Amino acid sequence: MKLLCEKMDFLSVLLLFFSAVAVSRAQVQQELSAETSEGTGINITCSHPSIQADNIHWYRQLPGRGPAFLVNAFKGSKEVPDPEGQVFVSSDRRSSALWLARPRLGDAAVYYCA
Ligand SMILES: *[C@@H]1O[C@H](CO)[C@@H](O)[C@H](O)[C@H]1NC(C)=O
Repeated sequence: MKLLCEKMDFLSVLLLFFSAVAVSRAQVQQELSAETSEGTGINITCSHPSIQADNIHWYRQLPGRGPAFLVNAFKGSKEVPDPEGQVFVSSDRRSSALWLARPRLGDAAVYYCA
């Protein structure tokens, strides 16, 4: 029985979908989707070459819900409490990544950066 459960954990695959969001002065681009197994960390990346003075905001939208704010950052890295991970903003501020350290099935969602 234990073996079966472990096997099912391993087979559980998360699908994370991303959307490009155009905000006032900044066009952002993200890959359309990525998948990982439960517990296997993943970087969700976002390119925003023309965001200037603004913070980078990350949101996620769980199925059937509205978008919820996760974190904002200007430069460098910052801890994200829920979902556990970190956000990294490149030193030239042209891209950022949301690192989900231990994704669970409940983290399958649409992730936005803006
Ligand atoms: C995730 O992305 C950040 C920023 O690009 C990078 O520093 C980090 O090493 C990446 N982590 C993995 C495991 O790829």
